[in-house]
Amino acid sequence: MSKEPGKTLLKMKVNGKAVEVMVNPTWTLLRVLREELRLTGTKKGCEQGDCGVCTVIMDGRTVNACLVLALQTESKEIETIEGLGTADQLHPLQKSFIKHGAVQCGFCTPGMLLSAKALLEKNADPTLEEIKRGISGNLCRCTGFVKIIKAIQNVHR
Ligand code: FES
Ligand code: FES
Repeated sequence: MSKEPGKTLLKMKVNGKAVEVMVNPTWTLLRVLREELRLTGTKKGCEQGDCGVCTVIMDGRTVNACLVLALQTESKEIETIEGLGTADQLHPLQKSFIKHGAVQCGFCTPGMLLSAKALLEKNADPTLEEIKRGISGNLCRCTGFVKIIKAIQNVHR
């Protein structure tokens, strides 16, 4: 990879694939995902850590990609919504969100799904309170959360 002034080579894994990208030290992970890697399923909202639409999983834990500097992800494993399922083979959470009508405009959905995935990986049978806590960093202005919670509760039913 050719040298670009002011930029640093970042190596990480995204959705299981090794990625190398030249980044400016001021760039966030959100910018790298959306603008350098064209993974636009990770949404850009407040860019201040308030809305959760930029949620991705980094080494098993959810983070707001707008608050993580790209260089902090050196050697880390990042999971984005593009790694969750495919149109032909949806992830069980995606199926459950559809089944329970948990998607309206869809802007919060990628981040919501990744928060739910991270929660269920740690706790396969969360209580209502644990689900609420698990998605507390993800704002949805459409659904009122009831159907989202139902979709997470019933993912394996
Ligand atoms: S865009 Fe990252 S929390 Fe809102
Ligand atoms: S479905 Fe519109 S913000 Fe959640």
